[in-house]
Amino acid sequence: MHITATLGIDLPIIQAPMAGVQGSALAIAVCNAGGLGSLPCAMLSPDGLRRELTAIRSNTGRPFNVNLFCHPRPVVDPAREALWRAQLAPYYREFGIDMPKDDTGPARNPFDEEAARVLGEFRPPVVSFHFGLPPGALLAQVKAWGAKVMSSATTVAEALWLEANGADVIIAQGVEAGGHRGMFLSKDLSEQVGTFALLPQVIRAVKVPVIAAGGVTSADAVAAALTLGAAGVQVGTAYLLCPEADTSSPHRVALKTERARHTVLTNLFTGGVARGIPNRLTDELGPLSSAAPAFPLAANAVTPLRRAAESAGSGGFSPLWAGQNVTGCKETGAAQLTRELAARLG
Ligand SMILES: Cc1cc2nc3c(=O)[nH]c(=O)nc-3n(C[C@H](O)[C@H](O)[C@H](O)COP(=O)(O)O)c2cc1C
Repeated sequence: MHITATLGIDLPIIQAPMAGVQGSALAIAVCNAGGLGSLPCAMLSPDGLRRELTAIRSNTGRPFNVNLFCHPRPVVDPAREALWRAQLAPYYREFGIDMPKDDTGPARNPFDEEAARVLGEFRPPVVSFHFGLPPGALLAQVKAWGAKVMSSATTVAEALWLEANGADVIIAQGVEAGGHRGMFLSKDLSEQVGTFALLPQVIRAVKVPVIAAGGVTSADAVAAALTLGAAGVQVGTAYLLCPEADTSSPHRVALKTERARHTVLTNLFTGGVARGIPNRLTDELGPLSSAAPAFPLAANAVTPLRRAAESAGSGGFSPLWAGQNVTGCKETGAAQLTRELAARLG
């Protein structure tokens, strides 16, 4: 069964929430085209969250999704932090900027009571999580206003855990996917498999509807995912060049280059493993580093370098998140792209 009936939408196309590169504008365009637009909230303050939710409510009457992270709050490991800062120190000298003193202010917060209170004012019809599910009491608050709850699984074990712990819909995130891997039960990257390998295994294992995510960028791929039994698809990378996205200009340039065909899994930008286009930082330190502090602490010492490089027009220190398949990225309106993705459905 398509996800359309469960979520009250016309097309089984979910625009993937993409923290840092989009806000309400992209979500509204997709909702109004009949898909499910998503608002990524992991990097929003309570006021920012309220502003964005107000914008969505004022510009569409259709169902929408809000997305939150639920990673464990990180504990600072001073030795690792010192090693990490020592590795980045030469870049600070090169840019002539000072290393931030504070190492405790993560820019990505796990879903908490305060965010739940703001969400409760708006009662979004769909709420999705990355990195598992929030503690039971918080999840109960979300369910109390009738929201459907979705979360990403990267293995069959994670899908079974999500179903057992209250997810209404599971997003099977294949290893092709751009951005952070939703991994939460294991850190073993060798278990991470492609979308069309993971999807049928998850569908066989659980009773709830399953969404395919990762590498889906064309109408043919959407049709193929549904043929394999997916209830819908979640598409991120293909929307990155849409005018409604806030994708930075170095990121947009990188997506249009040959480099975008050589993505890597890297933990350098946040400490969590995510897929993106290689750049100077991943080339010089290697994409995976045991010195990078736990998610999301690694970002604290990288962000000033990112800002310095970006102000000189370079994406050399920016997280250039992208999936393996960038062939669907188009500088076209998000509504048009959503309709094109659904073109082969009856
Ligand atoms: C730029 C970017 C940012 C992302 N940020 C988030 C996020 O904030 N929350 C989330 O649940 N998934 C995030 N993802 C992952 C998507 O939900 C989804 O798994 C992925 O985009 C699907 O693969 P595709 O990029 O090949 O379409 C992000 C993906 C990208 C490309």
